[in-house]
Amino acid sequence: MRFFIDTANLDEIRQAKKYGLIDGVTTNPSLFAKEQRDWKELAAAICKEVDGPVSLEVVGVTADEMVAEARELVKFGSNVVVKIPMLMEGLVAVRQLTEMGIDTNVTLVFSPLQALLAAKAGATYVSPFVGRVDDIGSDGMELVQQIVTIFSNYNYQTQVLVASIRSPMHIVDAALMGADVSTIPYKVLEKLAQHPLTDKGLEAFLADWKKTKGAGE
Ligand code: E4P
Repeated sequence: MRFFIDTANLDEIRQAKKYGLIDGVTTNPSLFAKEQRDWKELAAAICKEVDGPVSLEVVGVTADEMVAEARELVKFGSNVVVKIPMLMEGLVAVRQLTEMGIDTNVTLVFSPLQALLAAKAGATYVSPFVGRVDDIGSDGMELVQQIVTIFSNYNYQTQVLVASIRSPMHIVDAALMGADVSTIPYKVLEKLAQHPLTDKGLEAFLADWKKTKGAGE
């Protein structure tokens, strides 16, 4: 499973890159707003920093607006994936962009039917928002399982990109279900290698080493 980082923060992207843990980046308008800097400069810098796909989202709501924005967004780099909201107009835009050879990521997906529509439109990625589904008392990972099953039943090539991840367990479940990508916020990425038994075990090894004959000479 590929790991993307879900951020528009360059320091977080650089740190994750140093860990060798990112295969791409996803952004959205809210993540850009948090950075408080010129979005065009930032988008260009992110595309340059990352070897893999970088999702940049349109803000238009008609197909014509989305396609026009997409034409501009792809100028930031050859790795741009245009993020399109899950609307009927969005599906029209996805079909056109697919025909133009532009990769798309259909975002704000909350039902298996929405994912099926995105796949039928030819989307490169579909992004089910698992955390936001959990937030309203439903099961986000069940949604991912349904999408993975449907895509596999019909051999759709659209990749399942698990988004709105809140905890490491979301990633474990996504991997068990065979999702293609997890896009991970930096604060969750930092937790992936942590385990209390690792800390306890290392502490004991280092303490014992100090008692070992000849150690430290
Ligand atoms: C995905 O591409 C979105 O940017 C993101 O995962 C949304 O996550 P949130 O629900 O934590 O805002």
